[in-house]
Order: sequence, then structure tokens, then C-alpha cells
Amino acid sequence: MFRQLFKTKNLDVILRQSEEPERQLKRALGPVDLIALGIGAIIGSGIFATVGTAVAGDAMRPGAGPAIILSFFLTAVACAFCGLCYAEFASSVPISGSAYTYSYATLGELVAWIIGWDLIIEYAVGNVAVAIAWAAYFHQLCAGIGIDIPAWLAVDYRSAVQAGTAVAHAGGQVDPSIALFYQAWVTHPTIAGIPIIFNFLAAGIVMLITWLLVIGVKESARANNVMVAIKLIILFFFIYSGVKYVKPENWSPFMPNGFSGVWVGASLIFFAYIGFDAISTAAEECKRPGRDMPIGIIGSLVICTLIYIVVAGILTGMVPWDKLGVADPLAAAFAYVGADVSAGIVALGAVVAMTAVLLVFQYGQPRIFFSMSRDGLLPKYFARVHPKFRTPHITTIWTGIVVAVISAVANINEIVELTNIGTLFAFVLVCIGVIILRYKDPDRPRAFRTPLVPYIPLLGIGSCIYLMLGLPWVTWWRFLIWLIVGMLVYFFYGYRNSELRRQQQVSG
Ligand code: ALA
Repeated sequence: MFRQLFKTKNLDVILRQSEEPERQLKRALGPVDLIALGIGAIIGSGIFATVGTAVAGDAMRPGAGPAIILSFFLTAVACAFCGLCYAEFASSVPISGSAYTYSYATLGELVAWIIGWDLIIEYAVGNVAVAIAWAAYFHQLCAGIGIDIPAWLAVDYRSAVQAGTAVAHAGGQVDPSIALFYQAWVTHPTIAGIPIIFNFLAAGIVMLITWLLVIGVKESARANNVMVAIKLIILFFFIYSGVKYVKPENWSPFMPNGFSGVWVGASLIFFAYIGFDAISTAAEECKRPGRDMPIGIIGSLVICTLIYIVVAGILTGMVPWDKLGVADPLAAAFAYVGADVSAGIVALGAVVAMTAVLLVFQYGQPRIFFSMSRDGLLPKYFARVHPKFRTPHITTIWTGIVVAVISAVANINEIVELTNIGTLFAFVLVCIGVIILRYKDPDRPRAFRTPLVPYIPLLGIGSCIYLMLGLPWVTWWRFLIWLIVGMLVYFFYGYRNSELRRQQQVSG
């Protein structure tokens, strides 16, 4: 049994399987679509929302302050190591499934299962965080133009209760960072004695995106391209309009909480980089994966890093670092300097940016499920392709329903931390996979080769573990529980129904 758990799938078989007509996805994407897909996934609630927490931190874990620039840099370097590994994998295994498929071919079924299970955290749980941030910005944007959406339809119940308790302890003083939750707490209706507070806005946007994805990849990619253009314009607007409000004295002290603040900031702001790897999930739907995958992954990573560092520099130059712990720091920075119109424009941009992220992640997750079900590790029912749209509609709809329901009830900070630890762990496994595949299968054609193997993958592994250690222990526990649940599902379903095992038994 032990040997079977580590039995790998033959890469040639994987490639052949994806060419079976009833399971074939439409090849419609080129390199520009892929870079747009990458930027669509990368720039989102990380730079528009999480950056505030990463700069200011909280009482337990002080943030980076103006040295958030260093946090961005550290994280970018870690992502670059992993991005190079992803690019090699994606260009040598150009099919749907991302790190899950790559590890099936290199590290064996058990590891592939763990990574596929782990990627649910990155994609689906990550999208829960983005949907919640989207709802907060959208609520504010509507309020700015006179449309009053009740706060109890834009936040989760637990955060509202916590805000009510915090304000009561503070003698009625409402901290701006919890104003929306508190508003929900004091205005919510009750039905049959049950308080009604749930994030309808977050759940609603997820279902809307799900519908867009079911009707077809090309249409969705086009919508994504438009949103990517808008969000780049908005960030350039932030840079251009914000630079005149920069006061260099706000950059001093540069590192108010020492290097541990930079570390905490880096482990949180990693969320802002998640997404470059999502490009690899589209390998089965792109025209020339060997050439286009590395261009898409590395290109979008470089572009986003440059923009982040400039935006973060201006942000911390506009506002004292300890005032940035709010849900909408970029818009709040303009409000702080009295530029309310600019604040509104940035809020609009944030909503658009996060919609694009939701689109890419809701696109990626069903394709991972799709691959897992094609391999028999999940029921075959999930591997159906829509007869007309040629999209994996069953997995897309199920992902939409689950993400929408969790978005309606979850707390964003806990979700961001869980997403980060899960994604970093997946990156570690990818880096290990590159090293193993180089030794096991050195002659396989690789359209892109990671330079300096094994050093770059080893640096990727080391830097991801370093970032994971910057997250709180409670996050580690949650992650461990998630992995244990995954193991139970594998041993009770996946192991028994594995297509690979069935084929081995047939062949003798
Ligand atoms: N990188 C994505 C974002 O920041 C997940 O929203």
C-alpha cells in the first residue's frame, strides 16, 4: 500500500487523457489573455484592503509600518522563486489542474491529493476573503452615491457581535475600523427572535461571477481583460494623485516595529501576490502553453511587484502608518488628506479590481476539482463538460454555491491567514516537485527551465516556510485540521476510486 500511495501518474498518459473529446476544454487563450488572467488574480483585495492590516498590525502582532515596502520586496522574491518553478511545471505539463496535476506526475497520488485539497484553501477560501472585502467596498461606494444598502446585509454575524461588544467596552466610542460592523449590530432586524445579519453582498457577487463562468471561458476572459485595464488605470491614478500629498516625515520611523513587524507584514501581504500561479490552471485552455505559460506567470508577477512597491510607498507617505488599520486604506488615505472625490474613484477601482480576482479564482477552483474527478479521486459527476459552452459547469456551480455560503458568514482576517498558509504550503510542494522531476525525468521536454536547480527551488521552499512561520499558531492549527479532514476523505473515497489504481489492477 505504501508504494501505491506514492505511485506517480505517467505524464504522457495525463496528456493523452486530456485529449479525449468528451473531456476536452476549448483552447482559446493567448499570452496577453494569460498576463491579464494573472493580473486579474493578483491585484485585488491584498493591495486594496489587506495592506492596511499589514502596515498597522494589531495589538498582538504589530505591523510593518512604512517598511511594508520591505515586506513587499521579501514576498516578491519568495514568489519569484516559486513562480520560476511553477513556470517550469506548467510548461512541461500543459494541462488543467495546476500544482495538483504536476505533483501527481512527480510526487505520487497521496501528495497530489494533499496539494489538490490544499489548493481549495488558496482558491475557494481565498475567494471568500476577496468577496468579503468586495462587499465592504461596494457598500461604501453605494453609500457615497446615496444608495443605502443596510449594513446587516454586508457583514458577518460574528464580527457584528464583536463590534457591539467592543463599542460597549469603549463606552460608546466607535473605532472607524469597526464602524460598518457596529452599524449592522445596531440596525439588524430579527425574525422569530433570530438576528438577521449575513453578508448578502459577498454571496451575491460570487453567484453572479459563477454564472459568467458557466456561460464560457472566452466571454469571461474578455470581461477580465476590461477589468484588468480599469484596475491598472485606478492604481496609476492613486500613484499620480497621491504623490503630491506625500509627507516624507511619515516615513520616519521607517521600521517602527523592527524586523519582526516586517516579517508579520510580509506573511499577511503575501495575500496580495496570490494568483500568479492561477494562470497555470488555464494550461489546458491556452493555444501554445509551452511558450505562453512562463510569459504569463513571470510577466504578471514583475508588473504587479513594481506597482505594489510604488503604491505602498505613496500610501505610507500620505498617512501616518498607525492610522492605516482600516478596511479601505487606499480610499481612506485620500479621505485623510481631504480629497473625497479621489477617495470615491479609488473605491470604485477597488470594486472592479476585486471582481476580476473573484473571476480568476472562481475559474481556477473548478478546474482543479475537474482534474481530481477525472482521476477518480472525486466523483466522476464533477468531470462533466457542458455540451454547448465546453466549460466544467458542474464544478463551477458547486464551487460558486460553497464559496457564496461561506462568504456570507466568515471573518475576513481569519480567512486571509488561512489562505496564506495553505497557499505557501502548496508552493513548497511545487518547488520540491521541480527538483524531483529533474532527477526522475531529466530528458522530458521543458519549454521553460527553472535556472539554477536545485538552488532556486530550495530558496523557494525556505522563503515560503519563513513566511508561514510569520502567521499565528491558531492558523497553523486550522490548517492542520483541514489537512486531517482531507486525509480522511482520501482514504475513504479517493484511494478506493482512483483511476490510476484501477488501471494498474486491470493491467495486472
Ligand atoms: N492576490 C489576490 C488579492 O489580492 C488574492 O486579492
